[in-house]
Amino acid sequence: MSTGTTAPGAQSEAQAAQWVRRMFDGVAPRYDLLNHLLSFNVDRYWRRQTVRALQAQLANPEARIVDLCCGSGDLMLALQKASPARVLGSDFSHQMLRTANEKIARRNVLCKVFEADALTLPLASGSCDVVTAAFGFRNLANYRRGLDELLRVLRPGGTAAILEFTTPPNAAFRSIYNFYSNKLLPVIGGIVSGSREAYTYLPESVRKFPDAPTLAAQFQQAGFTDVRYQYLTFGIVALHIGTRPILAR
Ligand SMILES: C[S@@+](CC[C@H](N)C(=O)[O-])C[C@H]1O[C@@H](n2cnc3c(N)ncnc32)[C@H](O)[C@@H]1O
Repeated sequence: MSTGTTAPGAQSEAQAAQWVRRMFDGVAPRYDLLNHLLSFNVDRYWRRQTVRALQAQLANPEARIVDLCCGSGDLMLALQKASPARVLGSDFSHQMLRTANEKIARRNVLCKVFEADALTLPLASGSCDVVTAAFGFRNLANYRRGLDELLRVLRPGGTAAILEFTTPPNAAFRSIYNFYSNKLLPVIGGIVSGSREAYTYLPESVRKFPDAPTLAAQFQQAGFTDVRYQYLTFGIVALHIGTRPILAR
């Protein structure tokens, strides 16, 4: 398994994580605007599809739902809209959580955020029914530890869902998309956010991230069952879903 994300100048997982956290703190004020702009608003559709895939689990008013790497909170809020249960959001970027908190206050919804590293969550083992991460998992310094932590906090029978950029499987589409993400995206992202580095990191981190079949295999290796994934929008992103087995392996 590729260990995890790497960052400019980082010599260790701790340094990579610190770079990622600082980078997201820096782009937080413009993050939502850029998300919608650079994806032509399709990011909203990707999150809606994630919510749809989890409809059955979200219907339970007792469900404990946690959105990891929640950033400015868009998936957390979409999950809450579809559920009678309270939704928790967690992230290690203080500035992203500030934006999330502003949205929670504006909408007066049943959400609460807490600051934590997704690799060491302050959650009891087996305490969650649904754990999600949208566009955050790819940034973890160690993917195996990320999957282990997801599995740990889920109750037996609980569901993990990871929405993430991936490598489009069609070669012709891939070359058009690569031109967009490697050449145009860093320029537009750099101008609007003021951080060219952040939007150069984005396509690089996607390129180094396991493709969808490999990530599915890694879910299985980590101990998830009923692992499945679907490509969205020609495979620009993939939604992976796995279940914590009822009986330990
Ligand atoms: C691209 S943003 C995605 C935010 C949100 N989920 C969304 O869909 O817009 C990635 C988020 O993951 C967070 N993140 C990355 N690595 C993390 C880690 N190890 N622990 C907690 N949060 C992390 C970043 O701080 C950032 O807010």
